[in-house]
Amino acid sequence: MIPLSLAQIARVTGGQLCHGDPDAVVSGEVVIDSRRAGPGGLFAAVAGERSDGHDFAAAAVAAGATAVLATRPVTVPSVLVADVPAALAALARSVVDALPAVRIAGITGSSGKTSTKDLAAQLVERLGPTIAPAGSYNNEFGHPLTVLRADAATRYLVLELSARGIGHIAYLCRVAPPRYGVVLNVGHAHAGEFGGLDQVARAKGELAEALPADGVAILNADDPRVLAMAERTEARVVTFSSASGSDAPVRAVDIRLDDLGRPSFILLTPEGSAPVTLRLHGAHNVPNALAAAALARELGMGLDGIADGLGAAVARSRWRMEVHQRADGVTVINDAYNANPESVRAAIDALAHLSSQGGRAFAVLGHMAELGGTSRASHEDIGEYAALIGGSGLAGLIAVGEEAAPLLDGARRVRSWTGEALAAPDGAAVLELLANRLKPSDVVLVKASRAAHLEGVAAALEGEAGQ
Ligand SMILES: Nc1ncnc2c1ncn2[C@@H]1O[C@H](COP(=O)(O)OP(=O)(O)OP(=O)(O)O)[C@@H](O)[C@H]1O
Ligand SMILES: [Mg+2]
Repeated sequence: MIPLSLAQIARVTGGQLCHGDPDAVVSGEVVIDSRRAGPGGLFAAVAGERSDGHDFAAAAVAAGATAVLATRPVTVPSVLVADVPAALAALARSVVDALPAVRIAGITGSSGKTSTKDLAAQLVERLGPTIAPAGSYNNEFGHPLTVLRADAATRYLVLELSARGIGHIAYLCRVAPPRYGVVLNVGHAHAGEFGGLDQVARAKGELAEALPADGVAILNADDPRVLAMAERTEARVVTFSSASGSDAPVRAVDIRLDDLGRPSFILLTPEGSAPVTLRLHGAHNVPNALAAAALARELGMGLDGIADGLGAAVARSRWRMEVHQRADGVTVINDAYNANPESVRAAIDALAHLSSQGGRAFAVLGHMAELGGTSRASHEDIGEYAALIGGSGLAGLIAVGEEAAPLLDGARRVRSWTGEALAAPDGAAVLELLANRLKPSDVVLVKASRAAHLEGVAAALEGEAGQ
């Protein structure tokens, strides 16, 4: 972070300095986890459900933090504020305003924000010092904390913007006003909370609305709700597409997947074309790569650099479509990070592809959270979609947890399906069911919402039978 004195921090946040030297300087990281507090940093105390950060204020200062941002008095140097996220937002905004040369890009969508942010960051880093969050640091805490990492050396901020309601993205865009905005898709993630896809589109489109006239809106031409956001922005619009026959300026043609589901394609831009082979798995990473390419292109990167960078980019965030080949010939697709109807379909497509070489396919599916009133029907549809996969078909659907029944009911709707429909109460039961069934060349997908915690099942499966 750019060095700020405690007096400056109190002024920017409208807070009150307690027990501290007004000239003491914060130059280290701003954190909300006291265990990560370090020399010269600022610890923001947050009262959570299980613990209250204020209890760790002294420990954070003992670890070297200059001061604590707090909402109630503590015994160490602190700035007392009414609301910690609002204070972090104000601080972040003051840092952005102090660094006018930093170019800010925001990425939003229902699925693929982290995947795209990680791809884009790996391109933009080639242009200059870049700050991008680790994982999904994308809400009213993670967003300002990421922005606060910027300093005088920073040239680019590549930010992930998430919304669980109307106004959230507009808020994040006020914290760090982006000049470049990427909208990937409008899908069912959190659709229950929003009250339908049109509301999701309204929320995601706040990014387009926030862009200035000299900004760039990078929109997915293959999603009509995203393309319609062109009407909601003053910025120049650049579209990308992976659909055949599209005339979007940034597009992919001749898309192929290798045996492990890694896409290769020809990247077409107004400057020419270049072949790209991704290290990431799944056809859904093609639009993500195109979005990253379109952003890097707007930031001045040449076509060769983009193609080279996409080919070199690795998965930086865990549990998103990780493909693991076991020594015994079983392939495990660990996509246990989260789940919504679009991302489960994408994962099932990858399972279908990986098993089309002759292996049998098994899908371990947990529930998709936060779908609201459509939850039961959505789970039935996913069960049906899984049972319909091509190749040698789905050998087994193992449904875990609270929506197991509709998943299995949906699969049974496919009368021609001859696979096994199995319910498992928990991860241990999944492992037991699979232990007797998996054979060399089988492929097993593990996919669920975070709340289902299936990443442990995937890790156990990956570890089984040695590496
Ligand atoms: N373009 C896409 N379309 C559909 N599914 C996708 C797409 N990109 C990624 N996915 C899948 O969606 C899941 C989440 O991916 P990722 O973490 O990149 O998304 P996110 O938007 O950041 O999610 P979150 O809202 O949890 O932060 C993964 O299972 C991934 O394989
Ligand atoms: Mg994310």
